[in-house]
Amino acid sequence: MAIIVQPVTEDFVAEVGDIDLSAPLAAGDIASLRAAFTRYAVLVFPDQRLDDESQLTFARHWGPLETTVFKHRSDHKLRLHENLADVGNLDTENRLLPSDNRQRLYNLGNRLWHTDSSFKRLPAYASMLHARSIPPVGGQTEFADLRAAWDALPAATQRRLDGLVAEHSLMTSRARLGFSDFDDNERRVFAPVPQTVARRLPDSGRMSLYLASHAGAIRGMAREEAEALLAELTAHATQRQFVHSHRWRVGDLVMWDNRCTMHRGMAFDDQRYPRDMRRATVSDVAPTCEQMGLAVAAE
Ligand code: OGA
Ligand code: MN
Repeated sequence: MAIIVQPVTEDFVAEVGDIDLSAPLAAGDIASLRAAFTRYAVLVFPDQRLDDESQLTFARHWGPLETTVFKHRSDHKLRLHENLADVGNLDTENRLLPSDNRQRLYNLGNRLWHTDSSFKRLPAYASMLHARSIPPVGGQTEFADLRAAWDALPAATQRRLDGLVAEHSLMTSRARLGFSDFDDNERRVFAPVPQTVARRLPDSGRMSLYLASHAGAIRGMAREEAEALLAELTAHATQRQFVHSHRWRVGDLVMWDNRCTMHRGMAFDDQRYPRDMRRATVSDVAPTCEQMGLAVAAE
């Protein structure tokens, strides 16, 4: 049976039905999903009964998988497979993380608008987040359409942004929250990387902003001016008309295109309710500056 793609918005979010992601996918289904994911940057697959292995198997259809950043920290005990990002609030015994726990404080960075792994030279293409348990209130995830936000910019601004290169670092977004608990190895791995500010998506041909709270500096610009510009662009891109809020149901798998969206997790009472969310993440095909033909000098 052919899958059903039901638009939630005109060209940003769609729900996909009549598909069981835990079963092997037919070639035709993959082609339909690729077409849908070119038009819609967020796909919602309701009611998916996935274990870690089947979630990873589905993700591998889209490209090579990322490894969790917690691997860089020698004293961190992983709860999940190393190819899954643990964005929930549980420890290895499935107890709620206490309020002063490092993983919890680190994951609070997900409450800031961001796109996944823009702090890596080769950042993420697609993320696939599966809800295993959710709180009764709060904990939604919001998504901003950075293609629509680009389209809405005045032509003069688009011209000014074209060719700009920003520096992204995980330590920049965490510093915004006052979080600085990084060891020497992390400081080395999380050193800033260059990312284009404006990008063209090779599959749809659409232009998009590429923003995240990981971005701080812009090459060739004073730090103050760069921060002001990035804050302005983020405010522009996260206006209500570009944002969709996803209210989770257990079993939802939500897949988003990190090349042209930002997202953020909303608050909930994490000292009272478990929220078990597991993310598989697929790398992009090449660094963003390379994709845009921008030469970047080494720092
Ligand atoms: C993520 C993320 C936000 C949330 O999984 O990459 O930022 O709502 N999640 O859990
Ligand atoms: Mn994220």
